[in-house]
Parts: sequence; structure tokens; C-alpha cells
Amino acid sequence: MDFKLTEEHLMIRDAARDFAKNELLPGVIERDEKQEFPTEQVKKMGELGFLGMMVSPEYGGGGMDTVSYVLAMEEISKIDASCSVIVSVNNSLVCWGLETYGNEEQKKKYLTKLATGESIGAFCLSEPEAGSDATSQRTTAIDKGDHYILNGTKNWITNGNSADYYLVIAQTDREKKHKGINAFIVEKGMEGFEVGPKEQKLGIRGSDTHTLNFNDVKVPKENRIGEDGFGFKFAMKTLSGGRIGIAAQALGIASGAYELARDYSKIRKAFGTEICNHQAIAFKLADMHTQISAARHLVMKAAWDKDQGNNYDMSGAMAKLYASQVAMDTTVEAVQVHGGNGYVKEYHVERLMRDAKITQIYEGTSEIQKIVISRGLLKD
Ligand code: CAA
Repeated sequence: MDFKLTEEHLMIRDAARDFAKNELLPGVIERDEKQEFPTEQVKKMGELGFLGMMVSPEYGGGGMDTVSYVLAMEEISKIDASCSVIVSVNNSLVCWGLETYGNEEQKKKYLTKLATGESIGAFCLSEPEAGSDATSQRTTAIDKGDHYILNGTKNWITNGNSADYYLVIAQTDREKKHKGINAFIVEKGMEGFEVGPKEQKLGIRGSDTHTLNFNDVKVPKENRIGEDGFGFKFAMKTLSGGRIGIAAQALGIASGAYELARDYSKIRKAFGTEICNHQAIAFKLADMHTQISAARHLVMKAAWDKDQGNNYDMSGAMAKLYASQVAMDTTVEAVQVHGGNGYVKEYHVERLMRDAKITQIYEGTSEIQKIVISRGLLKD
């Protein structure tokens, strides 16, 4: 067993680390405070290839493996989880879904722009009454011959306003239940498609999360992804990979908070010495580091499974379940190590603590991950 990263992996990790420190750290507090979308930063991430890392160079992507992707996700998330969710949705849900299941015309028309960051994508599955229970789609797509008519509402959509292309899951034939669900590429500007209100969020406040409304939107048949009825499997398959990205995001939030707590404990003095010299603090650091290392092994294993062509439904769910818990626990402890300073914005850990929570909710709550894991264990 070889735990060593390749030279290329190390280069990608270092490039992401430098980018995050130099380009994302300045202004991260203000963007969080104002709920400001990181337009300039996203443009730079596109130019540097972070938005289509795993897409084949044929379609303008970086042709990298999933291990490279999670290394970059961890580094970006250490500094700015609002930016990393944009990276994650564009790479794992939108680009991967299109490259794996789209046809050649769809890839040429849409993927080439999404992979370079010229355009941004969104993934639209959740609805007011279908979050975890994803088969209960209320959005309808009625087959009209050469097009579909789309009606309904999607909720909590990451990149909701900033996206150019939206992968929308909708029910075509209710009687067929999940086998009557389809996935469509919807373009911003299509008549009847309207971006609704922006959510006021606890964390990842730089990313824009919106409700979307579809009122008699005419979607050409060539914008359906895959065969008729493939939409639910498309969503499930895509989310399985997406969970590896969010697991890496959680890992990054945890390691970012740990590093801040470690560094702070070496300079802050109390009772005549740096606080890291008190076991109360040193033991916290030991726990954090151990849990983060365990989470990193799970994240890497899931990424490796995907790269090897192994099934990664379970390993991705395990990585997300565990890493998101570690993100929550570590950020709370990092605030504690900082004492009163941890509760104010300039020390960053309060933001990381708020950002951590979403990793236990989106792309399937922790309870959903347990469903996926237990079903995987008990099948056969
Ligand atoms: N790969 C392929 N097929 C899959 C699959 C997978 N990973 N998971 C399920 N399926 C298939 C099943 O095989 C089954 O097909 P057949 O009938 O042909 O056998 C079909 O899908 C239905 O499966 P289930 O009976 O298991 O469906 P279920 O209703 O019990 O739900 C679930 C399963 C795992 C709970 C699923 O509903 C789920 O993952 N829910 C959570 C949805 C979610 O993650 N939402 C997040 C929104 S996206 C987001 O957050 C993005 C963002 O902006 C950041």
C-alpha cells in the first residue's frame, strides 16, 4: 500500500494552496458578511482550470483524476468554503454528469464552456417538498413531441443566479414513479424560467443560493440527458460523486480550523505560558488532528475508488458522513481554543464553524448517507 502522493498531485495541491492564500483570503470576511458572490475569484478559478478539473482536455478540461480534485477542494475549502461549493457543483455535479451521460452535441455545446469556467452550471434536484425524498419530484416536464414543457419550483439551488446552464430534474410520467423522471439542460434566459429570491444563509454566504421557478418553459428534446426515464439514476449517480467533493470540502473546513487553532495556541499566552503548553489545549489539538487524518483517509479512499472504476456509492457516503461530523466538531473546538477571539469575525474560525454545518445537509443529509451506507452493507 502506497500512501505517497505523486509529484503531480503535490503540484496541484500546492497550486490550490497558493491560490487560496493569495486570491481567496483577501476579502473573505467581507464577502461572507455582505453575502457577496465571488465573481472575480470564480473567473480566476476558471482561468486556472479549477472549474473543470476532471473533464477531458478534448472538452477543455484538465483531464485530472479525482484525487487531484479532492486535494484542490481541501485547500480551497480551508480558506473559503463559499468558493469551494462553486467548484464542487460545477465539477462533480454539472461537468461530470454531462461528460458521463450527455451526448456529443451536448458536450460540445455546453461542457466545453462549463469546463473552462466561461459558463457556470447548477444542479437542480431539490424542491420545497422533495429534498431528501428525491423520487417525489413535483416539477413536471410534459412531452410535446419535439420539446418538453417544464413547470415547477426548485429550492436551495447553489449558483442559482450566477449559473448559465442548469441541469433540472423533473417528472415526465408520474405513474412510472422514479422511472418516469428525466434530466434536462435548461439555459438561463429561456422564456418562463425565472430566478427567485436569494436565501439568507448561516454559512457559505458568498455562494448564491436561490429558488428557481419554471413556468411553461419550452425545453428542446435534444436537451434531455440520456434515454427517456433516466433522470433519477442520472441524479443518484451524479450525487454519489458529488458527495466525494463535499466530503473534501468538509475536510478542508476542518483542517483550516485546526491549523488556525494550532497556530493561535502557540502565540496566545495564559497562566504564564503559551496555551499549547496546557494539556487542556494540547489534547484538543491531538483529537482534532487524529480525526482529520481519519477523515482524510476516507476521502482519499473514495476518490481512489472512483479513479479505479470501483463502486464509490458507499465509500463516498462514508467519507461525507464522517468528514462532515469532523468539520462540525473541529470548528466548534477551534472556536473554543480561541476563547473570546474565536467568537469574532477577524479570527476566521466562527465563519468556518458556520460553514461546516451545510456539509451535513447538502448533497444528502447525514441521515441520507446512513441510508446509502446501510443499504450497501445489507444488499445481497
Ligand atoms: N446509482 C444508481 N442508481 C441508483 C443509485 C445510485 N447511487 N441510488 C439509487 N439508485 C436507483 C435504484 O437502483 C432504484 O432503481 P431500480 O428501481 O431500477 O432498482 C432507483 O434508483 C430508486 O432507488 P431507491 O428505491 O433506493 O430510492 P429511494 O426513494 O429509496 O431513495 C435515496 C434513495 C438514497 C434516499 C435518494 O432519494 C437520495 O439520495 N436522496 C437525497 C437526495 C440528495 O442528495 N439531495 C441533495 C440535493 S442536490 C444538492 O444539494 C446540490 C447542491 O446545490 C450543493
